[in-house]
Order: sequence, then structure tokens, then C-alpha cells
Amino acid sequence: MDLQQILDDIATEVASLPDLGRVATYIPELADVDPGHFGLAIALPDGRVLTSGEADAPFSIQSVSKVFTLALALGRLGELLWHRVGREPSGHAFNSILQLEQEAGIPRNPFINAGAIVVTDAILEGRQPREVLGELLRFIRGATDDEDIRINDRVAASEQAHGHRNMALAQFMAAHGNLRNPVEMTCGTYFHQCAIEMSCRQLACAGRFLVGGPGMPRLIAPARVRRINALMMMCGHYDASGDFAFNVGLPAKSGVGGGILAIAPGRASIAVWSPGLNANGNSLRGTYAIKRLTEMTGWSVF
Ligand code: DON
Repeated sequence: MDLQQILDDIATEVASLPDLGRVATYIPELADVDPGHFGLAIALPDGRVLTSGEADAPFSIQSVSKVFTLALALGRLGELLWHRVGREPSGHAFNSILQLEQEAGIPRNPFINAGAIVVTDAILEGRQPREVLGELLRFIRGATDDEDIRINDRVAASEQAHGHRNMALAQFMAAHGNLRNPVEMTCGTYFHQCAIEMSCRQLACAGRFLVGGPGMPRLIAPARVRRINALMMMCGHYDASGDFAFNVGLPAKSGVGGGILAIAPGRASIAVWSPGLNANGNSLRGTYAIKRLTEMTGWSVF
């Protein structure tokens, strides 16, 4: 199987698709990005990283950061985390408040916004945001083997300025006793984690610890790798998670910046970026690219 040829063919196919999708518009930094960008990278157990398109262009990883904070939170709290956040698909939009009211301030899973805010609150545990963000960046840089990964402060400030809905989710959870730190502190940390920038090459490398098997770094226990993958499969694409599992068949996490991290267990860590989103807030061309990759490689887990 000529993987490089496959990646190049996918980039060519994607370029001929009629639809670009629509960029996220809730902050100007994302609204101003050209939806036509496309990058793809895969990191393999033999150490190779294959790419096509704009694989070295940095983009805002947004909700993909939730995978890394979950890994840190499980390391700090272990199973206790599951008293504060569930493990079920939500079937609702990533920023929905509906179930929080029905389910006593316990978010359905760690990948919807409410769940990710609880996870960030759990990592804070009375520490300062600077310390926690430093730990998060060290984890991501270590996993990637690349020091050149940063938070875009302008994006973080914009997230904060437009973060009313996330603040509302956090206030609601605080009212139910499910936040341990001041709402502003937890949300401020969350806004900064969403503003981390990475390229497809970096993100594919960062995801290697979730691939498992020989040749891949072991940063967390294998049982936790399995669990994070299970959550990515069930909840990583919000109310389109079933559709993604049906069409692609890989655990994956998307972000409104247009990035997707997908894991082919034992085979590869895959990162794609195309900022135009579909109706569910997931990268339109990115989803197509990973679907084609699984079709051409047979890497679906099913
Ligand atoms: O908190 C938010 O709404 C954004 N900073 C991140 C949401 C996101 O990436 C959802 N993904 N598709």
C-alpha cells in the first residue's frame, strides 16, 4: 500500500469537491480564515510522518484540546472524574445547555463544552491557570516531540469576549456544585486551551500516544488509551458522532477550527484540517478526507 500516494490522491479529490463548508463565525479570528485550506498528516509506528496539502500550517485546535485535558484529568483524578461527568453521547449540539438542566448539572460526556469545562475545572484543583496551561502545553509538546506549540493570545481573548454561552454552562454547573474553582478562572483556562495552535503534522504526532502498540509513545496507561478512544468514537463529533462512526469508523475528535484528530488503533494517528464546517460544526472536507482514507486503507475499526 503506497500511503503517500493515497494522501496525495485524497488532497486532489478534496480540491475538486463542490462544497467548502462554512467557517465558524462566533469569533473574528475563526471567521476570517479561508475555508479552502486543507492539510493532512499521518504518524506511523515506524516513526514516519506522511503529509499532503498544508500540513505545516498552524490552526486553532479548539475542541481537539479536550482530548489532552481528558488525559491529564484521568491522570490526576482517575475514576473519580466520572462522578462529575458522564460517558454517554449527548445527541445534542456541542454547546447545548438542555441536558444540563435535566441532568442536575452533570454533563453527558467530557467532549461537549460543559463536560470539557468540568474536566478543566478538575485539572485546576485550586492551582493557578498559568500552572495548568503550562502542564497542558508540556504534555502536548512532549507527546508531539516539538516545542513550537503555543497558545494564540488573541484567539483566547476573543473566546473570552464572546464566551457568554460557555460562562452560562459553567454558572449552571456551579449552581449544582459541579465546579470547584471560580467560574471565571475555569472558563479562562478553558478559553486558553481552545486557543492552542498546531499544524496537522504536530497534531498527528501528538495523537500517537492514543494509537497504542509497538513504536508509539506510552504516556498514559493502556486502559486509559482504550477509554479515551471509546469516548472519541461515541462522542467526538457531538450530534454527528453516530454519522462519523457509520461513515468513517475511527475514534476521532473535531474542533470548530476545522481540525480533526483520528486514531486508527495500532496503525496510525491522523490529523486533518479544513476550516469549512458542516451543519454540526465539524470540518466538512476533513470528514470527507478521513472517510476516503479509511476506505482506501481498510483502517476502519469495524
Ligand atoms: O468553546 C467553544 O465553543 C469553542 N471554543 C470550541 C468548540 C468546538 O471546537 C466545538 N467543535 N466542533
